[in-house]
Amino acid sequence: MANGRIAIMGAMPEEIEPVINALDNVHTIVYGDNKYYEGTYHGKEVVVAYSKIGKVFATLTATTLIEKFGCDLLLFSGVAGAINSKLKIGDLIVANGLCQHDLDITAFGHPFGYVPEGNVCIPTDEGLRHIAKEIAQKKGLALQEGLIATGDQFVADPERKEWIAATFNADALEMEGASVAVVCNALNVPFFVLRAISDSADMDASFNFDEFLESSAKISADFILSMVDAIER
Ligand code: ADE
Repeated sequence: MANGRIAIMGAMPEEIEPVINALDNVHTIVYGDNKYYEGTYHGKEVVVAYSKIGKVFATLTATTLIEKFGCDLLLFSGVAGAINSKLKIGDLIVANGLCQHDLDITAFGHPFGYVPEGNVCIPTDEGLRHIAKEIAQKKGLALQEGLIATGDQFVADPERKEWIAATFNADALEMEGASVAVVCNALNVPFFVLRAISDSADMDASFNFDEFLESSAKISADFILSMVDAIER
């Protein structure tokens, strides 16, 4: 494995606060209208940021973490809406791949989620997923693996959720992961996307999201810190 700094990214303050609280030697740098937190975790150098919600902000932050802050590995932590009925609030899902459910040039005969010279689904790093499985086993935690669908849309509608499930065979949905995948794939940076379920993208989604954002975000962030411990530097 490489020797640079590890990027830890979320979309919302609640998703990265537990990580920042666990760091030593924290310095805050303002860049591109955002805050980046440099620090160490058990001696390993990390840079942490939340992007703000959605694909555009996530793209900017992932690119900045790599190109400006010299990160050579990226771990994303946050919450997601469940599609797969096996996923309950607080459960962890690690993405084996990510797609954009709101990318649509089907008018030109292309499948949903596809643009020329792109891919519908971008796989995450296999080595990082393997590390995650070992950690889950050691800790006796259930860790499901599946496809995550990303879009600039908070889904609180059973019909839209079913459409995303049927079209992409996705297990969970959120609003940033596939952007990180596009950036890391293009820049050859190994990446990992972990989400803890906050809601089920249904009629109760906004209510459940507000209630479980903080607790689910903490479950994901704690796991990400164990990943940092396990990653060789
Ligand atoms: N992140 C967490 N829950 C979500 C939902 N229902 N839709 C989009 N992103 C989410």
